[in-house]
Amino acid sequence: MTQTRTITVEPLGVTVQCAPDQNILDACLRQGVNVPHACTHGTCGTCKVEILDGDVDLGDASVFALLDSERTEGKALICTATPRSDVTIEADIEEEDGVTYHPVRDFSATVASIEDCARETRRVLLDLDGDIEFNPGQYVQVTIPGAGVTRSWSMANPPGQPRRIELQIKRTPGGLGTDGWVFKSLAVGDTVQVSGPFGRFFLREARDEPAILIGGGTGLAPLKAMVRHALETGSQQRLHLYHGVRTQADLYDLEFFQDLQKLFPDQFSYRPVLSDEEVAGIRTGFVTDAVDADFDTCRDHVAYLCGPPVMVDAALKMLMSKRLFPRDIYREDFFDASDKAGGVRSPLIRTG
Ligand SMILES: Cc1cc2nc3c(=O)[nH]c(=O)nc-3n(C[C@H](O)[C@H](O)[C@H](O)COP(=O)(O)OP(=O)(O)OC[C@H]3O[C@@H](n4cnc5c(N)ncnc54)[C@H](O)[C@@H]3O)c2cc1C
Ligand code: FES
Repeated sequence: MTQTRTITVEPLGVTVQCAPDQNILDACLRQGVNVPHACTHGTCGTCKVEILDGDVDLGDASVFALLDSERTEGKALICTATPRSDVTIEADIEEEDGVTYHPVRDFSATVASIEDCARETRRVLLDLDGDIEFNPGQYVQVTIPGAGVTRSWSMANPPGQPRRIELQIKRTPGGLGTDGWVFKSLAVGDTVQVSGPFGRFFLREARDEPAILIGGGTGLAPLKAMVRHALETGSQQRLHLYHGVRTQADLYDLEFFQDLQKLFPDQFSYRPVLSDEEVAGIRTGFVTDAVDADFDTCRDHVAYLCGPPVMVDAALKMLMSKRLFPRDIYREDFFDASDKAGGVRSPLIRTG
């Protein structure tokens, strides 16, 4: 039997057991210790901690997210670091009122359906072998068969649908998980390994200010989970959903959201925006410009931004110029392997 290591998490003073080949974040999240994290692949720097005692292998941390000087100072990214001894870490833990975190669990899933829902975009429904408890907006990690690596995809289903999860996946040319698997050989009936929930990008149900939700491409997925959850559970929160894509062929779930808008005309609005094509009845321009034009001020709102990092950055700058404070903005960046290799700046705004 492999000997586990004891990880002490300060300032909480709690301990978790971690296998030598397991990353420390994974051990914490499975044992109910919710330390800050976002990408879980060594790219964003959100999970950076100080190693107070003991020895770790830093793993595949991006050289941009964990600088040489920080490595020398004894810092680590716990989503890639594995323990070489018992270890004590100091994490930047912030308790949030009204938030329940659900431990990460493993699931075996069967592919129930695969649909080409937009250009280069697939909706994949997976039936899990147990219920997954999560907050609306969180994501799962899916193991790429034979590759020994995982990819992160957000759940577009609300927590009220815990057995069948919906993923919306965009093809990345040359990408291992999409081009090399989901768009190539994945088939209905296949068995897939899934773990979750991960991430701190989810609907803050304790906050009732009007919400501005901005999604780029498949960044719509977690926002769909949030909107569905709020409307299906009787929340009275005002929700403004913006979906930015390049052309009409990239749009999906148009009718779904238009129908919701008809059902909840005073509570929910839906605005698709095309950046590269003019189509009658659909707005043209950058999605951030559409929000900018619709709101004189965003003060006293809360915002959820998700999609390509460039779009997320542009959206948060626009919202801040409209008087929305960083504490009122939540973001999820869809980082991939090229972001990790190319370098990612520390986010200005929290990732959860
Ligand atoms: C929290 C989170 C949630 C996400 N949710 C979603 C979602 O709901 N839907 C969705 O579509 N996506 C989502 N993503 C993105 C998703 O996880 C994948 O990154 C994406 O699907 C691409 O995966 P891939 O394996 O096909 O590409 P990868 O193998 O990661 O490759 C991506 C690109 O990088 C290039 N590349 C690979 N290695 C290198 C290198 N060393 N140097 C330079 N370039 C390199 C590849 O050629 C390719 O063009 C999410 C990401 C995160 C972090
Ligand atoms: S969560 Fe560890 S670097 Fe992003």
